[in-house]
Amino acid sequence: MGAVTSTFLAGVALVKKGIGRPFGSLSQLQTIRLGKRYEGRNPLIKDFIPLAELSDLVFGGWDALGRNLYETALQAGVLPENMLQHVRGELEGVLPWKAVFDRQYVRNLNGTFVKEIPNKMKQAQALIQDIERFKKEQGLKRLVILWCASTEIHLERSPVHESLGAFEKGLEENSPEIPPSMIYAYAALQTKTPYANGAPNLGAHIPALWELAEKNKVPIAGRDFKTGQTMMKTLVAPGLKMRMLGLHGWYSTNILGNLDGEVLADPLSFRAKEKSKISVLDTILEPKMYPELYGEYCHKVRIDYYPPRGDAKEGWDNIDLFGWLGLPMQIKINFLCRDSILAAPIVLDLALFLDLARRAGLSGIQEWLSFYFKSPMCRPDLEPEHDLFIQHLKLKNTLRLLMGEEVLDHSGLDYYEELPPGAGTAPPAQLLNKATPFQTS
Ligand SMILES: NC(=O)c1ccc[n+]([C@@H]2O[C@H](COP(=O)([O-])OP(=O)(O)OC[C@H]3O[C@@H](n4cnc5c(N)ncnc54)[C@H](O)[C@@H]3O)[C@@H](O)[C@H]2O)c1
Repeated sequence: MGAVTSTFLAGVALVKKGIGRPFGSLSQLQTIRLGKRYEGRNPLIKDFIPLAELSDLVFGGWDALGRNLYETALQAGVLPENMLQHVRGELEGVLPWKAVFDRQYVRNLNGTFVKEIPNKMKQAQALIQDIERFKKEQGLKRLVILWCASTEIHLERSPVHESLGAFEKGLEENSPEIPPSMIYAYAALQTKTPYANGAPNLGAHIPALWELAEKNKVPIAGRDFKTGQTMMKTLVAPGLKMRMLGLHGWYSTNILGNLDGEVLADPLSFRAKEKSKISVLDTILEPKMYPELYGEYCHKVRIDYYPPRGDAKEGWDNIDLFGWLGLPMQIKINFLCRDSILAAPIVLDLALFLDLARRAGLSGIQEWLSFYFKSPMCRPDLEPEHDLFIQHLKLKNTLRLLMGEEVLDHSGLDYYEELPPGAGTAPPAQLLNKATPFQTS
């Protein structure tokens, strides 16, 4: 319940009062085309699929600092105080529950509002009790859990993560390979609650928890919200590749002054973020398939904690590319963004879409939600899809499929197969269909 969560909650309350608009949210604002272009069927996504309404939502959660959400929002400094005043009551009413927290995994945060339970399995059980109590107290039918807590130190997968049996044994034996984020994920899945991870740490991205998600038929998604610089990267890189423009190097740097930035100033937490940010280019550019274009490019990512900027992050990208005959060119991107303003609508969409997924009977990794993540989870034998345009198509086509509508491939050839008599010349698709020999001169 830090900057992202307080910005999200304040935003939902403001939108409900008609004081703000949910810009950035596909679930609230985007339309979806159905059928052929000439049919003119373009409903809003929220009118097309049965999503929960904003008025249905109730919020609760844990934090390692015992502040109410109004205090958190003020300290985060994302939304101006005069805006927050309109929803002060709603935010003050949200008090966190004590966290499962261990400073060993988030070294730059002094968590004081913490459950005093030494054993990790017992910590998981305490989280499960919190979840069940909240559900009962509020009279809720369904829940979704999103990890919007600090980035933990980078951990590699190890044998304790490889099966549910090994993981539960690890919980009993307080394995150091199990950080709090995994304990929360385990508690979510045990209570059959859909779960998404907005930070780069592993969370539910281990075989043990995939197994539990499948066993309990729970949808999961992650990792690391795709907001500022990486969103720009996954917009620009597919374009360069589509045009077969080569890359010598891509240098990215950020200055950021919020609590997230302070946590990421610890090299071990930064390592988790760096890995998440670095992986996108290789999978988009496919250097093995295009060694001449992308075989040797240099990719650097930096984040500097710079307090004066608060949540208003500034990202710079310098792209050294080359074109026809290898001649060099450059692109510079300077994105003066606001981290939590970009993340809040992602939190809303994920909550609503994961709830939808659960009701639709989907379980395990939800690759169609890759659109929202820097390190999208996917079946272990597949490469993740990073291209924002493909991710977007995947998301919308999944919604079409869920509602029994035709999937769109945008090839458009069928429009010309259906030409009314005398409406034009024979289209190329028909010529090729007839296997006309292709002549060159
Ligand atoms: N804002 C963005 O654009 C963006 C993008 C991608 C990922 N993220 C990730 O989202 C997360 C949240 O970002 P933020 O800006 O809100 O950070 P923040 O530092 O403001 O909030 C994180 C909160 O998590 C709490 N916390 C830490 N460990 C905890 C634990 N074990 N249990 C309960 N609470 C715990 C902290 O007390 C803090 O209040 C970070 O991991 C960040 O890297 C943010």
